[in-house]
Amino acid sequence: MSENHAGNHPVRVAFVGSECYPFIKTGGLGDVMYALPRALLRENCEVRVLMPYYACIPEKFKNNMSFRGSFMMDLTQDGRSFFVGIMETEMDGVIYDFIENRDFFDWGNPYTGLWEDIPKYCFFSKASLAVLNYLDWTPDVIHCHDWQAGLVPVYLRTEFATTPVGKAKSILTIHNLRFQGICSVDHLKYWTGLPDYLFDYSVFLIANNEANMFKGGLAYCDRITTVSATYAQEIQTDFYGEKLNGHLWYHRAKLSGIVNGIDVDLWNSRTDKLLPAVYSEEDVLEKKPQNKEALQARLGLFKDSSKFVLGLISRLTDQKGLDLINTVFSKMMNANTQVVILGTGDARYENAFRYYESVYPGQVCAYIKYDESLAHQIYAGADALLVPSLFEPCGLTQLIAMRYGTVPVVRETGGLKDTVEPYNEYTGEGNGFTFDYYNADLLLDAVERCRKVYREKKDNWNAIVKRDMEKDVSWEHSARQYMDLYRELAQ
Ligand code: ADP
Ligand code: GLC
Repeated sequence: MSENHAGNHPVRVAFVGSECYPFIKTGGLGDVMYALPRALLRENCEVRVLMPYYACIPEKFKNNMSFRGSFMMDLTQDGRSFFVGIMETEMDGVIYDFIENRDFFDWGNPYTGLWEDIPKYCFFSKASLAVLNYLDWTPDVIHCHDWQAGLVPVYLRTEFATTPVGKAKSILTIHNLRFQGICSVDHLKYWTGLPDYLFDYSVFLIANNEANMFKGGLAYCDRITTVSATYAQEIQTDFYGEKLNGHLWYHRAKLSGIVNGIDVDLWNSRTDKLLPAVYSEEDVLEKKPQNKEALQARLGLFKDSSKFVLGLISRLTDQKGLDLINTVFSKMMNANTQVVILGTGDARYENAFRYYESVYPGQVCAYIKYDESLAHQIYAGADALLVPSLFEPCGLTQLIAMRYGTVPVVRETGGLKDTVEPYNEYTGEGNGFTFDYYNADLLLDAVERCRKVYREKKDNWNAIVKRDMEKDVSWEHSARQYMDLYRELAQ
């Protein structure tokens, strides 16, 4: 690895997380696990990504992996040993090590239910450290992501403290505090084999006989980061803290927010092979209508580029503010509006959107699937993208939308607040439409304000579109902030 920062040695970082695009992705965590390591390579960093070898990883990726070795590892309280296999591949300078074990990773998509996921990620966290030792690759920093890697900082300072990897520091990044890995104390004790003193209120314990994997990791890691400055503040409050706000407040000296970016090569309207018509900020006004009509044709909507097309690309869960949309859906519709929904999740939302599709044929499309290529076409073909979340640690869809000249309509929470500047009708500044309180009428008002500018103030609208496309949503700045943190810890 070259030394592009005079005199600085490359920092070695191991990423540990449960998903990573293109191998497996269910949401934004998969995007970050892909894009951030690549951005770090450009900052004089050596990166290895450790993740499970799920059966559901497509064969085309498995066929490119090579076997790096295997060993047996003790895991449970009663000393059961489990097989740990290592499959490896390299992509553009990042090394990916997949941890194989058929007892844990042979089913699920990749998640199943907590009862099975807890043993799965106990195994994964411990095996990650064992693999680093086995490969004789000692990182300066182990960068752990979400509760699934939450035990890494705990194992690192206990069972692995006197092994080579014990020299590393750890960062635990909160991508979503809603999911924490909660189970009975007995279950966690059994699957981790960790000593009794850790099952205390300062580490794993949250109630009588209830343990929380994320809580333990947050206590034991050297630094906690989350994916926007606003979310870092929000999670110290009752409303957003998911019952860990007291714990996070206690550990606030080591907590900070670093906003996510997106991979601007993967999300690039100038080169995107999935688009009917590629475009830049120079010709967006001419090419977006072409993408819009192609999208309308693909989805069976009335083909008319003058319609205002509102997109939603989301996991369909209560986090995403879908109750607000549901409350005002009919009021949001008019003859010149079309709505395109791409998402999967809770049946009640899937069915609600299917219902609206049946009520507004040719005007509403509810595409209840996970589909990367359609996502690209919606980002390019829609005029605006809705993200009215109840909470949003960062949110990537508004960043991708902006990059594609699609105007975000968001609630001012978490990363949405930090990345979307509200349009000011007096000065014409800003790059999206926002509302503050979690209230359906405020969402409706934001959509109406957005639509009004689209219809009645074309010059202002076109200026917003161009500003969105020019906004820096890359990882560059945030990757440097992570580098500063890694260097500080590596000293
Ligand atoms: P979260 O991680 O909470 O789901 P983010 O906004 O951070 O939300 O990231 C969501 C990512 O998943 C984006 O890359 C988005 O394009 C993608 N995505 C979500 N739902 C779908 C879907 N049904 N089909 C394709 N991509 C999707
Ligand atoms: C989580 C959050 C989302 C964030 C993503 C990546 O899934 O819900 O807001 O963008 O992680 O950090």
